[in-house]
Amino acid sequence: MDSEKWPEPIIRVQALAQSGITSIPQRFIKPKFQRPTNFTTTQSFLHDHDENSNNNLNIPIIDLQHLKGDDKKLRAETLERVSEACREWGFFQVLNHGVSHELMKCARNVWREFFELPIEVKEEYANSPSTYEGYGSRLGVKKGAILDWSDYFFLHYMPCSLRNQTKWPSLPTSLRNVINEYGDEVVKLGGRILQLLSINLGLNDDFLLNAFGGEKDVGGCLRVNFYPKCPQPDLTLGISPHSDPGGLTILLPDDFVSGLQVHRGDDWITVKPLPNAFIINIGDQIQVLSNAIYKSIEHRVIVNSNKDRVSLAFFYNPRSDLLIEPAKELVTKETPPLYPPMTFDEYRLYIRTKGPCGKAQVDSLLSQK
Ligand code: OGA
Ligand code: NI
Repeated sequence: MDSEKWPEPIIRVQALAQSGITSIPQRFIKPKFQRPTNFTTTQSFLHDHDENSNNNLNIPIIDLQHLKGDDKKLRAETLERVSEACREWGFFQVLNHGVSHELMKCARNVWREFFELPIEVKEEYANSPSTYEGYGSRLGVKKGAILDWSDYFFLHYMPCSLRNQTKWPSLPTSLRNVINEYGDEVVKLGGRILQLLSINLGLNDDFLLNAFGGEKDVGGCLRVNFYPKCPQPDLTLGISPHSDPGGLTILLPDDFVSGLQVHRGDDWITVKPLPNAFIINIGDQIQVLSNAIYKSIEHRVIVNSNKDRVSLAFFYNPRSDLLIEPAKELVTKETPPLYPPMTFDEYRLYIRTKGPCGKAQVDSLLSQK
C-alpha cells in the first residue's frame, strides 16, 4: 500500500455538512452496535433533559491549587485524588492548572476562525498519511473504511526540531503566536502532571519525564478537532472508540458543546466540562510504563444536529525513537512485565494505518509476552 497517499478522495466533512444534505452518505453510517445509544438531540451543557441514566455521573474533577502551597495535608490529599482518578478512571478534569484562561479562550477562537476560512485556504494544508501533519479528514488508510464525522488539523510541537511553523496555518494572522504560547503552557502542565503520576507510582518524581526523553526531547503534537453539526447524529460518531496511543492527553474541550464520552463498564459517560478546565487522560504509553497500574481508557465523540464543536487535543508523548517498556521498579515476580519494549514510532503506525480500533492495539501486546 502507498502510505504517502490516502486510499480514496478525501471528503471534507465540514463542506459536506454545509452543503445542506438532510441524510448522511453511507460512508459515515456506523454499524448498529457502534451507534450512540440514549441519544439526545442537543448535547448542550444543560443536561436537565438528558435521558441517559448516567446523567449525574462525571469524570473526577481535581483542583490543583494546593499542590503549590505549604499545606502538606492538602497537597497529599490532592495527590491521592489524582492517584485514584488514574487508577479508577484514566480520565479527569483539572482546575487551577496554571494555564491562563485568556490563552485557552484565544487558542479555541483562532482555531474556530481557521475552520471558518474558505475551503481553498484550508486545502493548502491538506495532509497525507505519511506524517499526518496538516488539514485532515480521516485517520487510517483502509480503503472503504467507515469514516468519522470530523475534520482536524494536526501539527508537531515538540521536540522543537520537528516544529515547522510553515506547515501551520498563516491565517488567522495571530494563530502561530497563539499556538506557540499555548503549546509552551500546555507542555509545562504536561510535565507537572507526569511528576504527579511518577510520585503516585512510587517512582522518582522525574521518572516518567526521563522515560519520555527529558524536558527537551519529549514529543508533543496538537490535534485540533472540528465536529460539524450533523443531520443524522444518531447514525454516526465524531470519533470512533479509541484509546490515545501516546503518553498523556491534555484536552481543551469546546466551551459550549459537549460530545466526549468515556467508556466505563458497559456505559458511555458523557463528560461535562467545567469552564476553564482541561481534561486529562492516560494514553497507552503510560499504561505500558506503569505495567497497567494505570490504564488508557476507551473514549469516543458523539455529534449533534445543532452546533459545530471544536476541541484541542494536545498529545504529550515519549520521544518517538525511545524504547518504552514497563518500569523495572514496578515489575516483580507477582507482577511480571505485561508488554514488550517498543518505540512510539513503531507503536503509532497501528492507529495511523488501521484508524481508531478501541483498545485492540495495547491489548494485543499482552498476548505477545
Ligand atoms: C482525540 C479525542 C476528544 C474530543 O482527539 O483523540 O479523543 O473531545 N478527542 O474531541
Ligand atoms: Ni482521543
